[in-house]
Amino acid sequence: MERFVRVARTTDLMPGQKMRVEYDGTPVGLFNIDGEYYAISDMCTHDGGPLVEGELQDDVIICPRHGARFDVRTGQVRSLPAYRPVPTYQVKVEDGDILIAPREED
Ligand code: FES
Repeated sequence: MERFVRVARTTDLMPGQKMRVEYDGTPVGLFNIDGEYYAISDMCTHDGGPLVEGELQDDVIICPRHGARFDVRTGQVRSLPAYRPVPTYQVKVEDGDILIAPREED
């Protein structure tokens, strides 16, 4: 069952901004891309780098450690040295609150 948790207010995150939140003690990167909200694991799959501290270029986050790039919308790798995607979270907005939940495993 989905367990959505409130992590921020929409007013906390303007388009082009990012912030670190937590889900069950796990760091998650929250992004506003052109008014849409996206959430991905905040641990780079290369060596655990804190992705939210990297540079955001449009919908791509650049890991501050060694420069791997990830698509914030899908978690897919855009460039090495990472080669595995980062997990993404479901995101919804209710009454100005941003809520996230892990995706169901198949
Ligand atoms: S830890 Fe992210 S590229 Fe190495």
